[in-house]
Amino acid sequence: MVNFEEKFSERASKMKRSEIRELLKLIQQPDIISFAGGLPNPKAFPVEETRKIINELLDEKGEKVLQYGSTEGVGPLRKELAKMMKGRGMDVDHENILITHGSQQALDLLSKVMLDPDDTIIVGSPTYLGATGAFRAFEANMESVPVNEDGMDMDMLRKKLKNLKKKGKLPKFIYVVLTFQNPSGATMTAEKRKELLEVAAEYDLLIVEDSPYSHLRYEGEEKPHLISLDDDDRVLRLETFSKILAPGFRIAWATGPTDLIEKMCIAKQATDLCTNPFGQYVAYKYISEGIMDEHLEKIKKIYNKKRLTMLEAMEEHFPEEVKWNKPNGGMFIWVELPEHLNTREMFDKAIDEKVAYVVGDAFFVDDGGYNTMRINFTHSSEEEIKKGIKSLAKVIKEEMDIIEVKEESPISP
Ligand SMILES: Cc1ncc(COP(=O)(O)O)c(C=O)c1O
Repeated sequence: MVNFEEKFSERASKMKRSEIRELLKLIQQPDIISFAGGLPNPKAFPVEETRKIINELLDEKGEKVLQYGSTEGVGPLRKELAKMMKGRGMDVDHENILITHGSQQALDLLSKVMLDPDDTIIVGSPTYLGATGAFRAFEANMESVPVNEDGMDMDMLRKKLKNLKKKGKLPKFIYVVLTFQNPSGATMTAEKRKELLEVAAEYDLLIVEDSPYSHLRYEGEEKPHLISLDDDDRVLRLETFSKILAPGFRIAWATGPTDLIEKMCIAKQATDLCTNPFGQYVAYKYISEGIMDEHLEKIKKIYNKKRLTMLEAMEEHFPEEVKWNKPNGGMFIWVELPEHLNTREMFDKAIDEKVAYVVGDAFFVDDGGYNTMRINFTHSSEEEIKKGIKSLAKVIKEEMDIIEVKEESPISP
């Protein structure tokens, strides 16, 4: 038998199974109400529309859609995406768009072409778990900057960069999710977006704006996308069909500076030759025939109702010591319990009460977030949301009572 422990590369030896995926296995039981996943609601998938599109595609151009495609992606889709982005204030050329298998692949390709072991990058605290997983696989040194309700703390970012410069460890890029962040739901203000670009220019850094949720706005005005404020070609923007069509297609797109997109394209060639052309043609028809706009309006209505149901239930049942934000879009609400509580320690009790969340500390690359959790409002039904929040409130209250009793009890000799 081959002893792989001896033969794995150094890089692979450092790769670990995601602890969160292990936790999530616990919640596969059907009677658990899960606020843990980041999943769209399957009832909102455009099944009939997709069936019609697929039949048309096979009838009209079967030989083309079932063939290999170019690594950059299907031309008509890239053009349609550039048009769609222009309509949202982003003046981009379709040549600067690379179609990837999910934004997750774009994060992997980006790491592959940008990172040598121990290279520094900046991420938020908290930040998206899948991104830190990709960066870790390429042995990045991740430095974190706090994310507040209005996005990354700019003073802390400046301080961090000043320090890193002194140490000769300036980052290669700053990774941000500016709109309805996963996990915190935070959205960066327009002023801070401009400031972020100024800081990046000052230190000559690339900014990676990962933006899977900006289409899912239920309230308030759209904030300017970083790439539309950038006249210095220092933003890579990642978008995906996962949350607006269906994640099963694994179609996403990266838009950015020519040199970077070209290098990512070369790296992609060695990875998988091309993104599945069939799915790309489905996505193309979905946009060009206006189905996406209609579908988006439909899912936004559904998700907004769920969001309001969850916020109302939290208002009704959660103890007043618990704090949470009220995001105007996306899929997540960020919950902060009193500081002395630990959501990881509380997790089994929540499972006993048949409700699940993601422990907040998983989203921090440094220590922190032990009293926080991420809850998703798009996947469960409204009935489940009401029931699940009531159960979660019960677990939190009981945990608060236990900790209070512990604190009051005299120290034993
Ligand atoms: C911030 C962020 N980036 C990237 C992804 C991955 O998306 P995709 O399904 O396109 O790989 C997700 C998925 O939840 C996400 O939340």
